[in-house]
Amino acid sequence: AGKSHEYIKVSTPRPGVGLIELHRPKALNALFTPLILELNAALRTFDKDHSIGAIVLTGSHKAFAAGADIKEMATKEFADAYGDDFIESWSELPNTIKKPVISAVNGHALGGGCELAMMCDILYCSEKANFGQPEVKLGIIPGAGGSQRLTRAIGKSRAMELILTGKNFSGKDAYDWGLAARVFETPEACVEGALETAETIAGYSRIAVKACKEVVNKSQDLGVREGVEFERRVFHGLFGSEDQKIGMTAFAEKRKAEWKHR
Ligand code: HXC
Repeated sequence: AGKSHEYIKVSTPRPGVGLIELHRPKALNALFTPLILELNAALRTFDKDHSIGAIVLTGSHKAFAAGADIKEMATKEFADAYGDDFIESWSELPNTIKKPVISAVNGHALGGGCELAMMCDILYCSEKANFGQPEVKLGIIPGAGGSQRLTRAIGKSRAMELILTGKNFSGKDAYDWGLAARVFETPEACVEGALETAETIAGYSRIAVKACKEVVNKSQDLGVREGVEFERRVFHGLFGSEDQKIGMTAFAEKRKAEWKHR
């Protein structure tokens, strides 16, 4: 934190909580490469900062992000896209960030904006948030995981309908269909709720939190039997952590745990 950024704002508004606000207001936070690189750097910095326990990612009240930058993409050829691994830089968030990231989605979350929100570990939104995967209208398809993550989140038939029609859906729909963990009446309440949850998470053992995220994510890639076996290995491993002793002793002594890994 404290560094100057052009397309994002970075702060630590609560103990243990890192906040990243997408800030490219003239283009409704359209996601172009310079913004993604700043976002990646900020995420990495928080991920390595021992004082941070959880991260909140949000946009403005008007737009979380109105998609990948159409003007940046318009003239690309196959060789540019394939040759330069277009969109690969977007994988930093889902593939390398180990701390929980909560998205607080207000306003437009379209195309790559919807996909970025879905890369986060927990999605919160306000009722009037405007989600959608409108790529089909531009002659392309979702390219940052939308066809996979939306389908897993809300089921094949609904995802297929949304992706084939490019039809938008509201924050209330996102909540009703299970894409959002919580929905809030206002954008302010949405960001506040995300910060509160992040602060709660940041109050637990970093080791336990990291392991929670790791095992839940495994459920997306493994069958139930292998997933449960993986969970058990990690579960056993935590008996080698001081925080397991600290947490269980504190319970028995009816006091608050003072985590070693905080
Ligand atoms: C580039 C964008 C943009 C985008 C908005 N802007 N979205 N620029 N890429 N995705 C720019 C506009 O060109 C305009 O710039 C300014 O932001 C304000 O937008 P307006 O359209 O004037 O605002 P409004 O009338 O309020 O309409 C809001 C909107 C509309 C409904 C969100 O902007 C819109 O439909 N945007 C495109 C949404 C979309 O199709 N997203 C998916 C992109 S494809 P100027 O300079 O004119 O003021 C995608 C592919 C992902 O994301 C695949 C891999 C990542």
